[in-house]
Amino acid sequence: MPKKVTTTTLNAYKARGQKAVFVTAYDYPTATFAQRAGVDMILVGDSAGMTMMGLPNTLGVSMDEMIVFVRSVCRATQHAFIVGDLPFLSYQPSDETAVLNAGRFIAAGCDAVKCEGGRRVAQRVRAMADAGICVMGHLGLTPQNLAQLGGYRVQGKSEAAVERLTDDAVALQDAGAFSILLEAMPSESAARIRESVEIPVYGIGAGPCVDGQLVISHDILGNFVGDIAPRFVKQYAQLGTEIERVFREYAHDVRSSAFPGPEHCYALDTPARTEFARPGVPALPLSGQALGSYAEAAALK
Ligand code: KIV
Repeated sequence: MPKKVTTTTLNAYKARGQKAVFVTAYDYPTATFAQRAGVDMILVGDSAGMTMMGLPNTLGVSMDEMIVFVRSVCRATQHAFIVGDLPFLSYQPSDETAVLNAGRFIAAGCDAVKCEGGRRVAQRVRAMADAGICVMGHLGLTPQNLAQLGGYRVQGKSEAAVERLTDDAVALQDAGAFSILLEAMPSESAARIRESVEIPVYGIGAGPCVDGQLVISHDILGNFVGDIAPRFVKQYAQLGTEIERVFREYAHDVRSSAFPGPEHCYALDTPARTEFARPGVPALPLSGQALGSYAEAAALK
């Protein structure tokens, strides 16, 4: 088992130019597989609202719902660095709300929390950092401000916009953020923002000039049920199609009585075999024997 990834590890990666591998996960099996594959960081994102709960956006996700996802991922993860994503209204109202909710994620096993915004959340970031909590900032396309942004739109395209984002990044660093995530912006903009701070800067749809790449696991696995398909997604599998195929095949087998077969059934003890014998139901091999086909069962009778 590789060593636990910490902020020291992540700073060392940045210092030697090693890219951090960052994915979202919301459940025990996905986090287990991601960790076995050697990912460095897992974000338990509020994107769970869309990927796991079928909501149209992330705004309806509650802290209590996030806690279930966080606990499932933390139970699976000993190596990767886990970031819990603070959902809408879990940190905006006051410093106290932010510290208490971030503290719930840390108590559940997260290594850090993430919140969206720059200068306007800097005071909250300072409060959480002062409470001893590692905070990742999130700039660019921040889905909790979807209406203000006018939809899922690429950010940081103009010089003025990059200037504002750079000021936000510096404010987050000054407030004590340990890293920043940039979402959906041109590579050059992300590179410029990264150069303005010393802390690691990760990207999702922000090009290659960052310290690591985040993807939404459903996007690379191909099991997102929805119609958002950002340009920055590379799909490595089509698990959604494969899952549907398996359910179809199972339904066919049940309806045609091809399932369960003898290999999926339990055998009776010897005396009961005679008593419970049913015409047309071949007896299975005796308990304790390997179960084979009906033909093998008939041969054993
Ligand atoms: O919730 C999430 O997965 C996120 C990413 C889209 C950055 O915040």
